[in-house]
Amino acid sequence: MDKKSLRQAMRQARRALKPDVQAERALSLASQLKQQLDIQRSQRLALYLANDGELDLTPTLKYFWEQGKELYLPVLHPLAHNRLLFVHYHPKTAMQKNQYGIWEPKWTGKNAVPTWTLDHVLLPLVAFDRQGGRLGMGGGYYDRSFAFLRQKGRMPGPKLIGIAHDFQEVERLDLEPWDIPLHAIATNNGYHLSKTLNC
Ligand SMILES: Nc1ncnc2c1ncn2[C@@H]1O[C@H](COP(=O)(O)OP(=O)(O)OP(=O)(O)O)[C@@H](O)[C@H]1O
Ligand SMILES: [Mg+2]
Repeated sequence: MDKKSLRQAMRQARRALKPDVQAERALSLASQLKQQLDIQRSQRLALYLANDGELDLTPTLKYFWEQGKELYLPVLHPLAHNRLLFVHYHPKTAMQKNQYGIWEPKWTGKNAVPTWTLDHVLLPLVAFDRQGGRLGMGGGYYDRSFAFLRQKGRMPGPKLIGIAHDFQEVERLDLEPWDIPLHAIATNNGYHLSKTLNC
């Protein structure tokens, strides 16, 4: 299946999930993530607010707050083309809708951190494979923002943990040279370390 049809099919399937099913899956995901020692040790974690039927991180987010972690959300970069900024998020953060109608924290010029200082990034997937391959919504936002992870002798950087419903798994994705692989994938049903990246 080509990328466009795969995106359409997966997005349609996840949007069709009923709210009670989504809520149950969100709880299962949170319990998967809570069990990961590596994530338990994380200080700076980025995640997302679910949109378009994406697996919901709300229970996970609340748990991390209780654990005293610093949480960040992606914000469309006001200057750099199709890139993300990671802005601090706490219960009182002022929010606004971006051009896609997705809620994001207001960037004040002071509340973003350099992307390489994040410990883990939980990012939404449209489809994935067990090799760490990731298909996103097609804007190249995450690929551009984490392109530095591909450089040799690079700065330290976050581990990328893809989040998806279990049915979004495919046997093998055809990756492009710019696609950034995932360290692991968490679903409502399991946690899979990438077969190509050493965690
Ligand atoms: N590092 C990069 N530099 C320049 N262009 C890039 C880079 N990464 C991706 N792109 C461009 O972004 C476009 C979309 O990429 P792709 O189809 O991989 O999106 P995606 O991974 O689904 O999106 P996202 O990362 O937002 O989830 C491609 O046309 C590609 O040329
Ligand atoms: Mg990509």
